Amino acid sequence: MTQEWAPNSWRSKPALQLPTYPDQEKLEQVEQQLSKFPPLVFAGEARSLQASLGEVCMGNGFLLQGGDCAESFAEFNANKIRDTFRALLQMAVVMTYAGSMPIIKVGRMAGQFAKPRSSDTETQDGVTLPSYRGDNINALDFTEEARIPDPNRMVMGYNQAAATLNLLRAFANGGYANLNKVHQWNLGFVADSPLEERYHELANRIDDALRFMAACGITPETVPALKETDFYTSHEALLLPYEEAMTRTDSLTGDWYDTSAHMLWIGARTHQEDNAQIEFAKGIKNPLGLKCSPALSPDELLRLIDVLNPDNTPGRLTLIARMGHQKVEEGLAPLVRAVKAEGRNVVWSCDPMHGNTIKSNSGYKTRPFDYIMSEVRGFFAVHKAEGTHPGGVHIEMTGQNVTECVGGAHAVADEDLSSRYHTHCDPRLNANQALEMAFLISDELQSIRRPEPAIKRDITAAE
Ligand code: PEP
Ligand code: CO
Repeated sequence: MTQEWAPNSWRSKPALQLPTYPDQEKLEQVEQQLSKFPPLVFAGEARSLQASLGEVCMGNGFLLQGGDCAESFAEFNANKIRDTFRALLQMAVVMTYAGSMPIIKVGRMAGQFAKPRSSDTETQDGVTLPSYRGDNINALDFTEEARIPDPNRMVMGYNQAAATLNLLRAFANGGYANLNKVHQWNLGFVADSPLEERYHELANRIDDALRFMAACGITPETVPALKETDFYTSHEALLLPYEEAMTRTDSLTGDWYDTSAHMLWIGARTHQEDNAQIEFAKGIKNPLGLKCSPALSPDELLRLIDVLNPDNTPGRLTLIARMGHQKVEEGLAPLVRAVKAEGRNVVWSCDPMHGNTIKSNSGYKTRPFDYIMSEVRGFFAVHKAEGTHPGGVHIEMTGQNVTECVGGAHAVADEDLSSRYHTHCDPRLNANQALEMAFLISDELQSIRRPEPAIKRDITAAE
């Protein structure tokens, strides 16, 4: 007999990547405390996101998911939140214009703290300590004390997520996202980049369209959609004691929702069918993501789809392929083919970051922008060949002018990496690189844009 699902049923399953808290009593106290805190999102919002993703699944939209690899307590401030939000808005407007399709915006924000690690320990100058696992678990400093998992950090993570979400909601609905401000979203340092002209040209065209619409009586005052936007949050469902405590029944439907974010995804290291993270994810009604690495076989993927989306609901499951630029064709095509052959409704998204990490000559973990772009192109090519919809992109990026990924129009070089390398985990695209990627995607979207309905011409009259 299969065991009935409950928010804590993951506890009887093998679990990878979870911290071992030395103080169990403290852990239980914090779990109790968190379970009484107000939810961060409302179930109805998660349902709206799922409905939008359902449209993407049918080919009518594109998902833009992005933000930090790991949010940090130290780098928590309003400007940083605003800049990432603004960079995502800028990308979205570029892609909406070219693709003529809705862009669904989902931040890796307001809760993206816990990190899976390839090794349990880290060694520096002959000293070995437990790995850093994200700010809601332990601290980055390389000291024994800092690396001890502390349950209180979950409360700090909750508070930071609440404040971040509050500001994001204000930006999304308080006028900042007004399409009439599209020129102003341009960040200072994009000003002297080769992308500036292209961005302003597009912004001018949007201005023209808005002027025409205003003349017809369509203004932000008459149509609020012009001055606000939907913006959703997401993070990896990794730290299950936290996710369990945030899981509540929705009073409207009686269903379980993990109210820590609108969307949750399962990482590439924790997707074993019989393990804890999959057990947890299958019972919550939020839209889910599942990272797909080259190690995942078509059969394994189909079984995971059965578990995570047994009713085949469009929008419930987004498959986030992270193959690496060299493996994108051979890795992705068999998965896409199998999913299509079995008639499974999924959104296909491309994470061109996690398969393209290398160590630079100067010793930094980096990702060459060319590899990233090449994986995005490969992703579109596979979907074109298979006749499926390339549904989205999932990126690690920031609105700050960091130097973490080499290359791009501003040609960040290996020697530049040390100047503004701020990430707490993986290297992120800076705002310029993110915008450049948006233009590449917009070119790809333009090429798959559905043809306008043909105008029926009465040729007989002319003959
Ligand atoms: C991540 O998205 O930060 C991550 C660790 O990805 P993956 O699980 O695909 O390696
Ligand atoms: Co990462």
